[in-house]
Amino acid sequence: AAMAAERALAMATCTAPVNIAVIKYWGKRDTDLILPINSSLSVTLHQDQLKTTTTAAASRDFTEDRLWLNGKEADVGHPRVQACLREGERPLPGGVPGDPVSPDAAVPAVRRLARKRRGGGEDTATLSLSYKIHIASENNFPTAAGLASSAAGYACLVSALARLYGLEEELSEVARRGSGSACRSMFGGFVQWQRGERPDGTDSLALQVAPETHWPELRVLVLVVSGEKKPVGSTAGMQTSVETSPLLKHRAEVVVPERLAQMMRHIRDRDFEGFGQLAMRDSNQFHATCLDTFPPIFYLTDVSRHIIALAHRYNAHHGHTKVAYTFDAGPNAVIFALADTVAEFVEVVRRSFPPATNGDQYGNATSYWGRVGGAGDTGTERSPRHRFVRGLPVGSAALSQELVAAVVTEPVPGAVQYILHTQPGPGPQLVDDPSQHLLGADGLPRSHA
Ligand code: DP6
Repeated sequence: AAMAAERALAMATCTAPVNIAVIKYWGKRDTDLILPINSSLSVTLHQDQLKTTTTAAASRDFTEDRLWLNGKEADVGHPRVQACLREGERPLPGGVPGDPVSPDAAVPAVRRLARKRRGGGEDTATLSLSYKIHIASENNFPTAAGLASSAAGYACLVSALARLYGLEEELSEVARRGSGSACRSMFGGFVQWQRGERPDGTDSLALQVAPETHWPELRVLVLVVSGEKKPVGSTAGMQTSVETSPLLKHRAEVVVPERLAQMMRHIRDRDFEGFGQLAMRDSNQFHATCLDTFPPIFYLTDVSRHIIALAHRYNAHHGHTKVAYTFDAGPNAVIFALADTVAEFVEVVRRSFPPATNGDQYGNATSYWGRVGGAGDTGTERSPRHRFVRGLPVGSAALSQELVAAVVTEPVPGAVQYILHTQPGPGPQLVDDPSQHLLGADGLPRSHA
């Protein structure tokens, strides 16, 4: 009877968001457990515009663990995937390396948590923990665009596995083992990753500071910059910074603790002036620590610097902080603004970085600029993935001559590929509709079989 209750195949699908830090994480004190040298704070972006979807399935018929990323089979043995999925190979105090049931695990993987909750035994009425697992994961945005995807990816993996095993506890600690910034994608709105004090990492967790509904006017524009891929990955880059940058040490010890407290107050008060200024300063200091790294690391490009200068001219013209930029380990700009600023600033970006119209089968620049992505856009001129402005609708704005003269200096055609308009959003979501599973009943990817 116990055997009959065992399910042959179980499947769960979740989605998870991207997040953008306004107080940056850069540097680990423990590279294996992924423990940071400073706390960080981020805004979770809305999944209507940017999300990862992951299906996790377990079946008695699967002969090996398998993983597909955007339809292509990938290495399921990757240590960071294993850190989330299984028990890990890390020698543990009092435990045996690779011992699958070692109770001394510093950071439990999803399956270990599941086993613990079931009192160490196999609960035959639910999913067997010995079944192999298939995982399929897809982004709804182009990976090549260089938008942070590992945070959403690992948050989604952990969420889908947790659903599969029926776990309800908070799992930012497990997501952190995939990618540090992933722990912040386990919540919506405004999220702090506490650095924690313990060497075992059990207090290095993400906490929601405020939900996405807290600041309804806040908007986010992702300016996707054309061209090159990032030269140094964040994992390698931050390690070199930890080893060589005295500025990073000072930042982690002195600057970030003060800034974190300030940023929490600005968010609490919905003070855009304070929030924006501090976000820009913290992005700039992060990139300064990259320059202080030896050999130095450069993530900002000429286009990034053009955008920075543009934002400062725009704010100076208005006499206060209307837009704030932040950049991660790549050249794309993320701009924060309040809703009433978006149309005007988007027009300023359009004029400063006129979209390349080369080979535009839809005719002249007027129809492109005037209608596409703007108010009255019927959606018929170009498909959404070709528009210059994507995501949430953007109204049209007429720029005054003074504004154009003061702000739009030396346009750089084609430098910005497109703008994605989004807003703060919720944390990981369960996808109820079984037709949305990325894996078929045979346990293989549906769309890319
Ligand atoms: C610049 O989380 O990608 O985006 O922990 O090594 O996976 P690992 O690094 P990752 O680093 C993100 C760095 C950042 C700043 C931030 O998101 O806080």
